[in-house]
Amino acid sequence: MEVIIQPTYKKLAAVAAKIIRDALLKKTNLVLGLATGSTPIGVYEALVGMHKTEGLDFSEVTTFNLDEYVGIPPNHPYSYHTFMETHLFSAINIPAENCHIPQSTAVGHAEFCERYEAAILDAGGIDIQVLGIGKDGHIGFNEPSSSLGSRTRIKTLTRSTLEANAPHFGSTIDDVPKMAITMGVGTIMDAKQCLLLASGESKAVAIANAVEGPITAEVPASVLQMHPQTVVIIDEAAASELKRVDYYKQVYANKQELLSKDD
Ligand code: GLP
Repeated sequence: MEVIIQPTYKKLAAVAAKIIRDALLKKTNLVLGLATGSTPIGVYEALVGMHKTEGLDFSEVTTFNLDEYVGIPPNHPYSYHTFMETHLFSAINIPAENCHIPQSTAVGHAEFCERYEAAILDAGGIDIQVLGIGKDGHIGFNEPSSSLGSRTRIKTLTRSTLEANAPHFGSTIDDVPKMAITMGVGTIMDAKQCLLLASGESKAVAIANAVEGPITAEVPASVLQMHPQTVVIIDEAAASELKRVDYYKQVYANKQELLSKDD
């Protein structure tokens, strides 16, 4: 795992956006796996900025979102469909038919999940998967105890996730959708590259467990230790519980020096 520690949220978002831009410049029909939540918003803002100022072209890009709540309409203000439209899709030149987000109804979900997996394969697989992390170490909506080989399916959300989402949906956890359709941990692991993003002290324990703890279904993000191309991009606060901060910084500095000699 490569761990990149940046001084601020803005800088970590810029590093992640640059990785995506460089990949898109090399492969115009890039397949992106996308995440929601507050953490990737800065990355999407940076990509929108690159589209507007440099003409970064998304016309051949295909996207697959990690997850969606079950039981709210796609046009609900806090659906992930609305989130993606607001923060990215409406501001770049990506064709609507190239954007895939799990459905928000449980009706026929088993067939939907199979079709979603098949669509990812048909697109050639995900080149770069953007990930945030829950405080309990979940990725997508793969809550602790999710099978590390799981595929796209319906999951019941934990109390901790319901509580984290309650402010969006109403005053109590009873107002929050209880289930979601999410890519599985195995689906995420099939991506060619994963970018795991985290910002702030509230994510420090989850990041330490994911990066330096044992690989366990209790911390689904820890399986990324087995992924050959995961880059963990975090700010100082999210790095504050890691044991090897100095080493990660040294590795990154050395890599930058090597790259500058290549220029
Ligand atoms: C939800 C999403 C995850 C996201 C997590 C953290 O559970 N399903 O994909 O990583 O929230 O969100 P935030 O970035 O807002 O902390």
